[in-house]
Amino acid sequence: MLALTQRTYGGLDAVEMADLPVPEPTADEVLVEVHACSLNGSDRENLAGSPFYSRVGGLRRPRRPVPGSDIAGVVSAVGHEVSEFSVGDEVFGELAGYRGGLAEYVATKPRLLARKPAGLTYVEAASIPQAGCIAWRAVEGRVHPGDRVLVNGAGGAGGPLVVGLAKARGGEVTAVDRADKADFMHRIGANITVDFEAEDWADHADHRERYDLIVDLVAHRSPFRVHRALRPGGTYRMVGGSTRILLAALPARPLVKARTGKDVGVLVVPQSRADLEAITALVTSNIVTPVVDSTFPLSEAVAAYARLARGDNQGKIVVTMR
Ligand SMILES: NC(=O)c1ccc[n+]([C@@H]2O[C@H](COP(=O)([O-])OP(=O)(O)OC[C@H]3O[C@@H](n4cnc5c(N)ncnc54)[C@H](OP(=O)(O)O)[C@@H]3O)[C@@H](O)[C@H]2O)c1
Repeated sequence: MLALTQRTYGGLDAVEMADLPVPEPTADEVLVEVHACSLNGSDRENLAGSPFYSRVGGLRRPRRPVPGSDIAGVVSAVGHEVSEFSVGDEVFGELAGYRGGLAEYVATKPRLLARKPAGLTYVEAASIPQAGCIAWRAVEGRVHPGDRVLVNGAGGAGGPLVVGLAKARGGEVTAVDRADKADFMHRIGANITVDFEAEDWADHADHRERYDLIVDLVAHRSPFRVHRALRPGGTYRMVGGSTRILLAALPARPLVKARTGKDVGVLVVPQSRADLEAITALVTSNIVTPVVDSTFPLSEAVAAYARLARGDNQGKIVVTMR
């Protein structure tokens, strides 16, 4: 089968197309004929091996060579211990360990897979899992009508669904990213856009004590700085960013809370079928819409990675197999 493989951590020269054997599902796995696999910021991190947490799947090189985590496809074989899916079922979801999806077939335990709604294409379904689960955990139950929400890194793979869900829940959204993504961020619902290269929302007077919720997809500021942009009682959640900031946020949380009353912490987004089904129900009810930036055939997966690496994507890049 055709697959993208990654030999080491690094730049685009670390990935190449290869012909691999179709994997054999074990007794508790299903074999999925992959139709589409979307790319996330985590795929860019897994390619670079940076931040350091992206090396959990192999310190010097990835133990599982095929990258790609968010898939949609059709079950083509089931191990004899699997009872919840049958051959022919249309499924989608995140792959455990965030790898294996950029291939014509992947064998995986069915725990994280959900049934693909008939009304969604494979491309749409593949664009939901990681971004959708981040949006669900970051926003649902936290944003109420009239709340002010800042999304840092709003214009990439995960941000648009965070913006969309915050808007759907009645929030006023400030979206922060590169200046050339401002039109896109307005189109997906942002009320205000900020060019991160021109303005630092953590310091700027316009943002002082303004937000009920800050969702930070690319955290690089000290947890002792970001609270300045929060209203009293507000919440900041780091989703992705540097390992140093991630580690600093853990001990900082009680200190910032004691000093300011604001909640500055890390958002843990578990790989979860229940979360995927919850956010997908909002997609099929037209409450939120996944945003597809572009599609590439599997044979051009390296070019898809090149677009991701340049940061040119506005929403999800999706690689299609069929
Ligand atoms: N917490 C958890 O449990 C969990 C679970 C899954 C994933 N994650 C993490 O969540 C993050 C998801 O990000 P994503 O998929 O949306 O990534 P992405 O596609 O890389 O999007 C990030 C966006 O932020 C922009 N950006 C870069 N530097 C910025 C800055 N200083 N200020 C504001 N914006 C900036 C990027 O622009 P450029 O392209 O120009 O750089 C890009 O548009 C990843 O780090 C991933 O590892 C966390």
